[in-house]
Amino acid sequence: RIAGPCSIVLFGITGDLARKKLIPAIYDLANRGLLPPGFALVGFAREDPGGRSFDDLVEQAARDGARTPWRETVWRRLSAGIRFVPGDFDDDAAWHRLTATLAELDRTQGTGGNHAFYLSIPPGLFPVVVDQIQRHGLASEDEGWRRVVIEKPFGHDLASARALNAAVEPVFDRHNVFRIDHYLGKETVQNILAFRFANQLFEPMWNSHYVDHVQITMAEDIGIGTRAGYYDQIGAARDVIQNHLLQLMALVAMEEPVSFNAESLRIEKQKILANARPAPRLDLHTARGQYVGGWAGGTQVRGYLQEEGIASTSTTETYAAVRIDVATRRWAGVPFYLRAGKRLGRRVTEVAVVFKRAPHQPFSSHDVEELGQNVVVMRIQPDEGLTLRLGSKVPGSAMEIRDVSMDFAYGGAFVESSPEAYERLILDVLLGDPPLFPQVEEVELSWKILDPVIAHWTKQKTIDTYTAGTWGPASADAMLRRDGRSWRRP
Ligand code: BG6
Repeated sequence: RIAGPCSIVLFGITGDLARKKLIPAIYDLANRGLLPPGFALVGFAREDPGGRSFDDLVEQAARDGARTPWRETVWRRLSAGIRFVPGDFDDDAAWHRLTATLAELDRTQGTGGNHAFYLSIPPGLFPVVVDQIQRHGLASEDEGWRRVVIEKPFGHDLASARALNAAVEPVFDRHNVFRIDHYLGKETVQNILAFRFANQLFEPMWNSHYVDHVQITMAEDIGIGTRAGYYDQIGAARDVIQNHLLQLMALVAMEEPVSFNAESLRIEKQKILANARPAPRLDLHTARGQYVGGWAGGTQVRGYLQEEGIASTSTTETYAAVRIDVATRRWAGVPFYLRAGKRLGRRVTEVAVVFKRAPHQPFSSHDVEELGQNVVVMRIQPDEGLTLRLGSKVPGSAMEIRDVSMDFAYGGAFVESSPEAYERLILDVLLGDPPLFPQVEEVELSWKILDPVIAHWTKQKTIDTYTAGTWGPASADAMLRRDGRSWRRP
């Protein structure tokens, strides 16, 4: 799978995401030979990159973030097709420069009139950029394909998401709109459907007859870093539950798609999202918290309110947990517990499907004291793989039963290395291959699930706290205890 001739116009090329993820991913694609000879990258950004030349910034970002070895020849070939267009997005003169640059690249680099517009900018700027693309004739497909790539957040609630979609829809056909949820680009996330549907083992038991509940955890040990401006407006639930965790839930819960194409996947994910609701009594079935100073990875770290750029009165959550119920025959009565947080005990993302206990134990109760419930843990990161928790006889003269683990680890099973999520997704955009991109319906339904939770939290004047390096606020533990369950300690 090698992309055809094209250029990417990257809006916000001097931003954090572009420098840390997008530019390195483009270099890695080039290094793996997956970009065509006729490839160009155009950076369009409001300001000059802070005193350094644009070329330096891009090269440094590629060098710092590349996962493949640095090869001067690859970089030289790639950089011959890199251009910078400085200017404000509402300045027509800048758009004339962009149009001229794209025409020049078609001629000199052979980019074939195919353009992807990558919006790595705050969503408030989407409407003006999309409008300019249209006004300057850049959305017309007369001379090649035109695609738009949109980074999250896709709005901050259902109403604003609809407004964003309404700005994009008149300009780009739905099959030309690629919404990035980088979790869908992760190998281990794609593997959820492989585990479920390429095997006969799990699917017969993947329902309310056998499954007790599901826990989806996205724990990060980092704080908010330099992203105060973004994060304080957003909080944990909007930042990652609305997108990454609800997508994971949809993949775990959905029926088998008739085939692995974008439309079949969307239909099945949409059925889950349309029938998923936060459990009633939000006071009992949600929890949120904010980290206070503590220890992380052996160093002392400050609390959220002491982070640079955060007001001392902020009640933005850095931890969120919510119980979702999915009203389908398969999942009736099986809670999905979703939690995400910054500055937790360690960085780990996993999906744990926890099974009911065996209906009858022929062993005496003191022999099975250490026996938990069977669990299938899909380890999304960092220790990629799958674990099965099973009861086993302890070697010896008595019939004593204890939990053991069976592990599959990517490192031990495959010699192939996993491409970084952004590499995979950028390549799919250039190929026009949409299965790994959430569709507009999924985005809107996810907001519909989350909006009542956020409205409930907004009414509260205070927020629970947790010490950095722990596993979240006490209220999150209480939330599961009320249901007779407890969070896993991954
Ligand atoms: C992003 C969030 O979507 O995902 C960040 O905005 C978060 O807050 C990041 O840190 C985590 O991504 P990953 O791939 O490191 O799990």
